Amino acid sequence: MNVRTCEINLNHWYVVARSVEVTNKPLGVQLWYHSIVLYRDNEGEIHGLEDRCPHRQVKLSDGQVFENFLECPYHGWQFNSKGICTFIPYLSENQRLPNCQIVSYTVQELDGFIWIFIGDENLLFSHNIQPMNIPEWKHLNYIGTVSVIDCQAHFSFLIENLMDMYHGHLHNNYQPWTGAKLRELSDNEEEVTAIYEAQSYYKIDKIWSISQLFFPQLRPLHTEQLTVNYIYPHWRSTLGQDFTIYCLFCPINKTHTRAYLIHFTSLNAFERLHKLPQWFRQFIKEQLWGTAQTMLDGLVEQDIIMIEQEQQAYNQQLRKPSYEINPTIPAVQKMIKKQVNKESLTIER
Ligand code: FES
Ligand SMILES: [Fe+2]
Repeated sequence: MNVRTCEINLNHWYVVARSVEVTNKPLGVQLWYHSIVLYRDNEGEIHGLEDRCPHRQVKLSDGQVFENFLECPYHGWQFNSKGICTFIPYLSENQRLPNCQIVSYTVQELDGFIWIFIGDENLLFSHNIQPMNIPEWKHLNYIGTVSVIDCQAHFSFLIENLMDMYHGHLHNNYQPWTGAKLRELSDNEEEVTAIYEAQSYYKIDKIWSISQLFFPQLRPLHTEQLTVNYIYPHWRSTLGQDFTIYCLFCPINKTHTRAYLIHFTSLNAFERLHKLPQWFRQFIKEQLWGTAQTMLDGLVEQDIIMIEQEQQAYNQQLRKPSYEINPTIPAVQKMIKKQVNKESLTIER
């Protein structure tokens, strides 16, 4: 099995959009060769259907939501949230609605994202499969920033990039740490954890610490633990107590990957802040939202260039070997393959 052409294990929750992107105007998204249309009904609830009109196979995402039904742009057939055709504008009295149900996916809106499960529904319930938990999203002590990764490459290149902290070399201007050294590597059925020791530039312990973001001379270089965790199919990383980053994966196909990177800066060290009224802390959280945008977008831009070059090189030189000295990478590849095997045992294609 070649890791660069590996399938994904569909029996997990994947992220296909941000909450704010989904309105009562249908939105077409993709997840691993599946075209899906998302829309919000009158009550604000999200639905996900196969993005294909069963009449002539055009995209329902080019249509509109009409009184809680999704209406195809071509001849105006309408579908309910179960994917059942409920109305055809020109159906004559002696005709019946065709039995042409399209797939309705299991979706949920959680922590600012739309999560979808397109695997085996029996397994979803029997194993109580849950989306990744992101407690920092709502917690008043964390300031978030979101950046979208959209790269023309297999998802394995992206997760390897995220697990290999020796590529700090690439980011010298943006990375909040330097000099990573791998100290521990462990894996189990669902996770690969690598613990590095790094020199962090930031220490978020005084109210003026935030100015370190803008003035490099204020950054006190100190040792911190840098933990990266591949919790299949997503990723989480922490740098000491101050920073947490998530990467939520949405693999589109074997050479195209989307993902959402969410960076949180912790305000846990500011005890006086915690005594302030809730509404004020919420106000601060909202006002500071996106503080790390320049840094995060800069990191993403640099990483995408490398990841896409890896894919291009793979496409051109299938027989050239790669030389790897970070043991985290084979552990990640083993996990990707293990998950595919697991999936093929449960789903028939
Ligand atoms: S193609 Fe959708 S209504 Fe005809
Ligand atoms: Fe990077």
